[in-house]
Parts: sequence; structure tokens; C-alpha cells
Amino acid sequence: MTAEGLPMVVPASDLPARVRIHEVGARDGLQNEKTAVPTEVKAEFIRRLADAGLTTIEATSFVHPKWVPQLADAEQLFPLAKDVPGVELPVLVPNQRGLERALALGAERIAVFASATESFAKANLNRSLDESLAVFAPVVRRAKDEGVHVRGYVSMCFGDPWEGAVPLHQVARVCTALRDMGCDELSLGDTIGVATPGHVLELLSLLNEEGVPTNTIGVHFHDTYGQALANTYAALEHGVTTVDASAGGLGGCPYAKSATGNLATEDLVWMLHGLGIETGVDLGRLTATSVWMAERLGRPSPSRTVRALSHKDQ
Ligand code: HMG
Ligand code: MG
Repeated sequence: MTAEGLPMVVPASDLPARVRIHEVGARDGLQNEKTAVPTEVKAEFIRRLADAGLTTIEATSFVHPKWVPQLADAEQLFPLAKDVPGVELPVLVPNQRGLERALALGAERIAVFASATESFAKANLNRSLDESLAVFAPVVRRAKDEGVHVRGYVSMCFGDPWEGAVPLHQVARVCTALRDMGCDELSLGDTIGVATPGHVLELLSLLNEEGVPTNTIGVHFHDTYGQALANTYAALEHGVTTVDASAGGLGGCPYAKSATGNLATEDLVWMLHGLGIETGVDLGRLTATSVWMAERLGRPSPSRTVRALSHKDQ
């Protein structure tokens, strides 16, 4: 570590020169809080994340407010977030209704969210897997007609709390279905954080064999079993350059009890910067943002890097 609280830079060969961090703290993080965070605090969180150099900040979800009450203020929050200059603000939409709400506010990036398993499709979307894909097809088409960028999440890619192991071909079927619908990028969700690096590499290779190029794939690791960084490193070695993470390690999924926080953005940035990989993020500012948010939430951040950097001088 350097005197400024930054990692020593020691590059490794064959890794990407730059990684785009898809910041999900304001959505994946705050959707799982026990109490709803005030809209103005969320807007300030997004402003601070942008100020720390994050350029893709998932803002909220246009889902049913009864299903995710924590994000029921999407209509109020999104216009505030849109005032933040220089950031892309993807939002989740589960169906046509969600898309209409997002388009009405001028959203330019949306994400649909599918599941690799029947159990989670039912728990999260109240539909069978194929029914949910049938809901998404016209949503993606309409979004593309409007010139909107579409991300397709696939949850439970590496294991499911109800079904256990998830066969890779089942994950690939959902990924290729989303690709065929017109999704611009995919995000492979390890919703309950059970993946290990070999598993990640196998899935990425299978997707390539199925004609899904690596440059359209992002990875979305929850850190339940402490594997998120190792899995990310494996994905980088495979050539992945889009990594989802949540500031301070906030997060979980209200419809999968065993899901904990996402890979913490600070832990990710520490590793990437140590490898000499550009992110555009100022780690000090980002850590200060997560400390500020932790104070608002009334508990410390679970991120090891946030804890280390915020106690550095004590
Ligand atoms: P449903 O109850 O089956 O809805 O829920 P429906 O289609 O039967 O409609 C019932 C009523 O809801 C209707 O109103 C609709 O208009 C209304 P009524 O006619 O009765 O007055 N409605 C809506 N209202 C507002 N916005 C909407 C909307 N849609 C319908 N978009 C539904 C189906 C999909 C809506 C529900 O299951 C839902 O909202 N689910 C969201 C769950 C969620 O947000 N989960 C967390 C995000 S996913 C995640 O975290 C995983 C991820 O991070 C990756 C990973 O980690 O793996 C992405
Ligand atoms: Mg998630």
C-alpha cells in the first residue's frame, strides 16, 4: 500500500486495460433495506457516486411498489438523478407497465431481469420462466424501437436456494433468449453468491460457444461466500470488462433470502487499481460516500476496503 492509502500498482498480463463498473448500490443495495431511504438521500447518494467517478449508476426500478416498497419513489427519484451530469442511469423494468413509466421520464437505459430457474422466476416475477421471457420480448422490442439501451439480467446463474445446482445449459438458454430478443448486454447474476472461479469460466466459455460474445457480458456477483473478487478475477482473465458492484457492499434481493450484499465497489476498485486497470473512480471519494451512506443507514459498511480505509488513521 502507498502512503496515500492506495494499492501498489503491479499489473498482471492479459487483463483488460479498463473496466466499466456498473454501480448497483442505489438499486440492488437500497431495494433490500428494512426501511425506505428518503428520496433526497438517494439522490444525494447518486450525486456522490457520480462525483467519485462512477459513470454507470443503476438508479432505481419501475416495479410494482407493493413488491419493492423501498423503490416506490422511482417517479420522484429519477428526475432528480437525471440532473446529475455525465452519468448513464439504467433502471429496472419488469414488464410493459414498468417500461412505460421509465420512458415517460426519459430513461435511456433499461434492464429486464430474467431468471435461470423456475423457482426464482416465480418468486421474483410471479411468472414461469417462459412466461417471463414472453413478457420481456415486446418490452425489449419497444425499448429498442425507442433507441433505448437494454441490459438483460439473468439471476441464479450459479445456484438457486430452492433448486440447488443450476445446469449451465439452462443458463445459456435464457441468455441466448435475451440476446435473440435484442438485449445489448447481459449480466450474469450470482444472486446468492455461491459461484467459484472455475464455474464462472465454464459458463463464459459455454456462452461464447453459443455465440454470445464476451464484450456483451457483464458479471454480477453477490459476496455471500466471499468469492466475488475471485470470481471477478476469473471473469477478467476471460476478457470481461463490465463488472457490477455496489458501493459499500450494500445489497441483497428481497425475493431470495440467502442473497447478501453485492461485491463492494471499493473492494473491486482496490483490486483493479492494484492491477493497473483503469476505472475512472476516485477511491477516497467513493469510500467517503459509503461511510456517509452507512451513517444514514445506521450501521457500518460490510466492505473490507471501506473499513480499512476509514480506520486507517486510528
Ligand atoms: P403481478 O402481481 O403478477 O402483476 O406482479 P400483474 O401483472 O398481475 O399486475 C397486477 C397489478 O400490478 C396491476 O394493477 C398492474 O397494473 C400493476 P391493477 O390493474 O390491479 O390496478 N403493475 C404495476 N404497477 C407499477 N409498475 C409496474 C407494474 N406491473 C404491474 N411495473 C410484477 C408482477 C413483475 C409486477 C412483480 O412481480 C414485480 O414488480 N416484481 C419485481 C421484483 C423485484 O423488483 N425484484 C428485485 C429485482 S431483481 C434482482 O434484484 C436480481 C438482480 O440484482 C440480479 C441478481 O442478483 O441475480 C437484478
Ligand atoms: Mg443482484
